[in-house]
Amino acid sequence: MTTYQFPEKFWWGSAASGPQTEGRIPGDHKGDNIFDYWFSKEPEKFFDQVGPEKASQVYTKYKEDVQLMKQTGHNSFRTSIQWSRLIPDETGAVNPQAVAFYNSYFDELIAHGIEPFVNLYHFDMPMYLQEKGGWLARETVEAYETYAKTCFELFGTKVKKWFTHNEPIVPVEAGYLYRWHYPEESDMKKAVQVGYHEALSSALAIKAYHETKQDGKIGIILNLTPSYPRNENDPADVKAAQIADAFFNRSFLDPAVKGEFPQELIEIVTELEILPDMQEEDLAIIKNNTVDLLGINYYQPRRVKAKETAVDTTNGPMPEDYFDNYEMPGRKMNPYRGWEIYEKGIYDILINVRDNYGNIDCFISENGMGVENEARFIEADGMIHDDYRIEFVQEHLKYVHQAIEEGANCLGYHMWTCMDNWSWTNAYKNRYGFISVDLADGKRTIKKSGYWFKEVADTNSFSI
Ligand code: NOJ
Repeated sequence: MTTYQFPEKFWWGSAASGPQTEGRIPGDHKGDNIFDYWFSKEPEKFFDQVGPEKASQVYTKYKEDVQLMKQTGHNSFRTSIQWSRLIPDETGAVNPQAVAFYNSYFDELIAHGIEPFVNLYHFDMPMYLQEKGGWLARETVEAYETYAKTCFELFGTKVKKWFTHNEPIVPVEAGYLYRWHYPEESDMKKAVQVGYHEALSSALAIKAYHETKQDGKIGIILNLTPSYPRNENDPADVKAAQIADAFFNRSFLDPAVKGEFPQELIEIVTELEILPDMQEEDLAIIKNNTVDLLGINYYQPRRVKAKETAVDTTNGPMPEDYFDNYEMPGRKMNPYRGWEIYEKGIYDILINVRDNYGNIDCFISENGMGVENEARFIEADGMIHDDYRIEFVQEHLKYVHQAIEEGANCLGYHMWTCMDNWSWTNAYKNRYGFISVDLADGKRTIKKSGYWFKEVADTNSFSI
């Protein structure tokens, strides 16, 4: 038996987001964001037609939920402030009920020894800004800067870990390339502008935070999907993997940590004549305001080969004009949701950050396993026996441990997620939590993995 012991003060916990958990109640004065709006127009696009207003009702149940976090070993927990709850309309007025809610939620966490990690933007563009172009519009960058400053002023004495964005590539690819999320467009020029404005807004929030002189840290949370070439000895495959990496990882990782965009990307965007609209001082702002802390979400790798299929010109240029995705034979799949599982990817990311990103303070801010129809694993004791999730986390943690042994500066591990929550168009289809939520009555029940995680967190180790 081997024991995997983690460094002292390691952050154990989980992550969630405001729009995926809070829900809405009459009179809470939350404004609509793009998901509220989209669901009201096209509910059939959401699994079982379950919308965000339902979510897991954390808005009213947070005290109970914090107790459950304690029972599952959390010493830290991430959620996000909902911009459309805090600043519900274009007057810019702050909603006092939102202030009271977030104050009370963060106080409750702190009182239970759970440090709140707070993210500012988790895909949830307020509708009044989307109507003016959302991330396409410079005005949104300015509104975001004001929103960020408001959050630091209101909650900065208690929140000491801030994040500017969660997975900023998702609004780019889901909203403006592959039509997965509202506004369901496919236009690479717009995608580039959206990504650029997000990166700039992140730097502006970092600048504003550092100017407050509050004694915390500010970072960004990126979903990193290491790109592996089909054949490491084939230069065309290797080049294809590098380009995919520049599009999907380095597009945000490089500006966030190094203050500059990857050269490969600049070349492509220049050649296609889709450079974003910029202002003169922007690049200096990005250069001078990099993150203190990097959150890494890891779920699956990307496997890539040199372009073999014809370039599809229907939608104009697309990232896939430069590589083909590759389904590696024999790859290990999550049997309960069609994603590849490749545990070593988490190690490769941490070593890449150690070697190429100044070994910046980082942590695993999401990792987890979505499972469809998880009720089938309920046993006589009424609990979901999610041994597959325990194994999944354990196998990833082994690699995190190894990377730390080899000098990676990884400070913690957060699972996605605590309570089963609402996942965008998939709603509650895939369950990820340590704790199940019965959609009919909101009842929470700790899963086997929740008890297991508590042991790990309490002993700061696990043995297998
Ligand atoms: C990434 C995102 O941060 C979160 O919103 C999403 O639900 C999970 N991963 C699971 O896909």
